[in-house]
Amino acid sequence: MTYVPAADRYEKMVYRRCGKSGVKLPAVSLGLWHNFGHDTPHDTKVDICRTAFDHGITHFDLANNYGPPAGAAEHAFGSILASDFKNHRDELMISSKAGYEMWDGPYGEWGSRKYLVSSCDQSLKRMGLDYVDIFYSHRFDPDTPLEETMGALDYIVRSGRALYAGISSYNAERTREAVAILKDLGTPCLIHQPSYNMLNRWVERDGLKDTLNELGVGSIAFTPLAQGMLTKKYLGGIPEGSRASQGKSLFPSMISDHAIKNIKKLNEIAESRGQTLAQMAIAWVLRGGGITTALIGASKPSQVIDCAGAVGNLAFTSDELALIDTYANEEEINLWATSSETTN
Ligand SMILES: NC(=O)c1ccc[n+]([C@@H]2O[C@H](COP(=O)([O-])OP(=O)(O)OC[C@H]3O[C@@H](n4cnc5c(N)ncnc54)[C@H](OP(=O)(O)O)[C@@H]3O)[C@@H](O)[C@H]2O)c1
Repeated sequence: MTYVPAADRYEKMVYRRCGKSGVKLPAVSLGLWHNFGHDTPHDTKVDICRTAFDHGITHFDLANNYGPPAGAAEHAFGSILASDFKNHRDELMISSKAGYEMWDGPYGEWGSRKYLVSSCDQSLKRMGLDYVDIFYSHRFDPDTPLEETMGALDYIVRSGRALYAGISSYNAERTREAVAILKDLGTPCLIHQPSYNMLNRWVERDGLKDTLNELGVGSIAFTPLAQGMLTKKYLGGIPEGSRASQGKSLFPSMISDHAIKNIKKLNEIAESRGQTLAQMAIAWVLRGGGITTALIGASKPSQVIDCAGAVGNLAFTSDELALIDTYANEEEINLWATSSETTN
């Protein structure tokens, strides 16, 4: 049946300016890292994307390696674009990235111009797109001159493969350098994509959040729910079918007893605010300045609806923030620390 998007979709979402750019992004964006590979039925992927768009989520985030197997998420999204969103391309912000291992040999990962440009071409082919809206360097490469990686992003934009450039998991110092190089080249850095949530606060410690504010670069916080830990899901153990039960990227050892003790307290605070814990976790990453949008993942449409509902209450009192700080203690869950901690 032909998909007709909800007529009231833009009334349901809040749109926030991305740094000092001309574009606004939805407060909640959808990522296709998990649940868009060959291990998930196509109908589920379609339902998740339709539900997102129906709730005003206009930004879909991909990368070359999302699957399994790598590339499968872009293939699936390309098929959904063709079947459902073909008349809505100009209402969507679609991103992809290159940086992690994608193909064999010396040109299949990291930050060379050779890898970034050819990977971008492959992503466009998989999605059936003429261009992506944002193309990212997925991780900092300590062995490639930053000028080369940023030069590749500049070329990707100038050649029409992408409208905007972004970086992911670069620390504050490297971000300053990258942003300056891109500025000199005449292709401003639109956005930074760091991991950030109540159990992973490196962007505060590192000064990245303040740096992005100062530089006028927008940001999209990935894993705002700590891969599902910041929901009620794990309060009574590890349920069958959950991400932690699948041996992918959320390992049972990450869900420690002290984390669960704090998450139970955070859940009580969310309830006192009339929100689910997922909604409060999203509102929390969006508080203050520095973060434009929260980049969630979902294994079912109901999760998208719950998360999009975060926009119903994005405000915090100072007492609430202080109480959250008591329990929002860092856990050993930042799988992307190598990129932001590496210096050359
Ligand atoms: N730049 C990078 O290096 C990088 C790295 C990682 C991710 N990302 C991006 O960030 C996106 C989001 O990452 P993520 O999926 O880890 O984010 P997340 O939002 O922290 O976790 C998503 C998971 O939480 C659970 N969930 C979501 N909403 C829920 C709700 N309302 N109630 C209960 N459970 C809920 C689901 O787990 P179950 O599957 O257990 O149901 C879902 O798969 C990725 O898709 C990708 O686009 C980028």
